[in-house]
Amino acid sequence: KSVVHHLWQGRASLDMLSPRLQKAVKDYMSTNKHGAFYRGRRDAGVDRDCLLCEMKRKVKVMTLDGKELPFSSLGWQKIVPPLPLERLYGKGFRTCAVVTSAGAILHSGLGKEIDSHDAVLRFNSAPTKGYERDVGNKTTIRIINSQILANPSHQFNSSSLYKNVTLVAWDPAPYAVNLHKWYRNPDYNLFTPYMKYRKQFPGQPFYILHPKFIWKLWDMIQANTLENIQPNPPSSGFIGILLMMRLCDEVDVYEYIPSLRQTDLCHYHERYYDAACTLGAYHPLLYEKILVHRVKSSRPKRDLQLKGKVTLPGFRTIHC
Ligand code: C5P
Repeated sequence: KSVVHHLWQGRASLDMLSPRLQKAVKDYMSTNKHGAFYRGRRDAGVDRDCLLCEMKRKVKVMTLDGKELPFSSLGWQKIVPPLPLERLYGKGFRTCAVVTSAGAILHSGLGKEIDSHDAVLRFNSAPTKGYERDVGNKTTIRIINSQILANPSHQFNSSSLYKNVTLVAWDPAPYAVNLHKWYRNPDYNLFTPYMKYRKQFPGQPFYILHPKFIWKLWDMIQANTLENIQPNPPSSGFIGILLMMRLCDEVDVYEYIPSLRQTDLCHYHERYYDAACTLGAYHPLLYEKILVHRVKSSRPKRDLQLKGKVTLPGFRTIHC
């Protein structure tokens, strides 16, 4: 059986990956670039309702508010948007779609279904133009990693991909979050381009996720996994899913847990093949996907296998 078959059952593990990916994972573990170290309890047997409550309790979306050093001394309180992200949309949305960039979404014909949601979340440089039939064309929020801001090839300032949407950027700080060190030495320098963009387009909501939020998510994945997960931040996909569970009553996630269209094609918009994009090497992606499988609402199998779709409840519909 393939790893994907196991994912559909919610039971995949690292030893099912190819030797190449297993080796990559081991290398990331021994390097432990971000110094991640989990100290809490571990239990992989928590039931769905408790797991959802744990997520709801532990995962409060945090963005830089400019009130902490060194940002406060640099005048960031006037730079960041006046409203916190969790309050930007008032009561939030009823239905939301999270569209991963997986190659498997090609030829899905899911565009109309995706656009029928009240809000749509997309990632990084994933386009809609030319792919409308499969991915739709509505974008409400875009999560971008720091490479998008720092790497000139993305033309972050001028590309229409990043206009007329809410932007949420992130960069992995060290696990023992020290904002001074992070500001001096981010993975990719997102601070200068952020500042510049905010001054140029002050009316566009644009946030930077607090690194504490990123590592809270990581802790939560590790707390519910017996194996040691990769000591690297969760993928943008997982970050986006948890963000939308905060903002929406119901979240449909597309091609995160892969459908029958599963492919090594990394992104639907690029000719680049690597199984790591779907199964993870750097990110603890396989474990993220198992966790999402554990909290999904039960739905017909064909949602998962034919559409690559899982439906998750929004946190405010959960009563703990
Ligand atoms: O590669 P990128 O991070 O831009 O893709 C957005 C998200 O979509 C990833 O963080 C990951 O969660 C998800 N993804 C996936 N399978 C792929 C490609 C992306 O699950 N083949």
